[in-house]
Amino acid sequence: MKKKLFLSIVLLSFIGCKKTEKKVEIIPETKVEEKVLKQKSLNFALETKELLGKNLQEKIKEGGAENALNFCNINAIPLTKSISDKYKTNIKRVSDQPRNQLNTASEKEKKHINLFKERIAKGEELKPELVDNQLYVPIVTNAMCLQCHGNIEDNNPLLAAKIKKLYPEDKATGYSENQVRGIFVVDLPK
Ligand code: HEC
Repeated sequence: MKKKLFLSIVLLSFIGCKKTEKKVEIIPETKVEEKVLKQKSLNFALETKELLGKNLQEKIKEGGAENALNFCNINAIPLTKSISDKYKTNIKRVSDQPRNQLNTASEKEKKHINLFKERIAKGEELKPELVDNQLYVPIVTNAMCLQCHGNIEDNNPLLAAKIKKLYPEDKATGYSENQVRGIFVVDLPK
């Protein structure tokens, strides 16, 4: 009887040991560094997103979508640049269907935007992704965005006309909720 108990204790601790052994995963130093840089870059993108979002909401509250449109027209790129300067890196917001031509995604970026689109279509959760030395952070639409990126020709012809005037080559309409609108591209800090 005692022998049996002893044996099972030995066996149990053996199994226990194996379990913890499996949990301790040794990550090489370069991978740790990569993880830290990835997190840092993600924080830069999130800070930019928050800054743009906060200003956008404020301007809509102050004077509606039209007011916010004028604000974004003048300030979206400078606000993004202010975060780039603050962290001495390079952050941009690009799209395969840009409103401002300066925000046109490169072929490489477009390929990844399409990948994000395929994933969202499959119901997968989108995650930021490292591509060479840059972090691509997906930008997805919500209901609020549709005021200026939805079917505005039908819903707000006046605003649609203003957008066309400011951006004759605008391609950023016709979106619905939960679609990939573009990506933040952040250079990994050195
Ligand atoms: C009040 C109108 C308005 C709303 C609401 C709005 N946008 Fe925009 N958006 C703009 C304008 C104007 C630009 C072009 C800014 C510029 O000239 O740099 C723009 C540009 C962008 C860009 C950069 C690429 C491009 O097309 O030039 C992205 C990405 C974007 N918007 C995503 C969103 C998302 C996501 C939301 C909702 C969370 C949103 N926008 C809500 C007006 C709006």
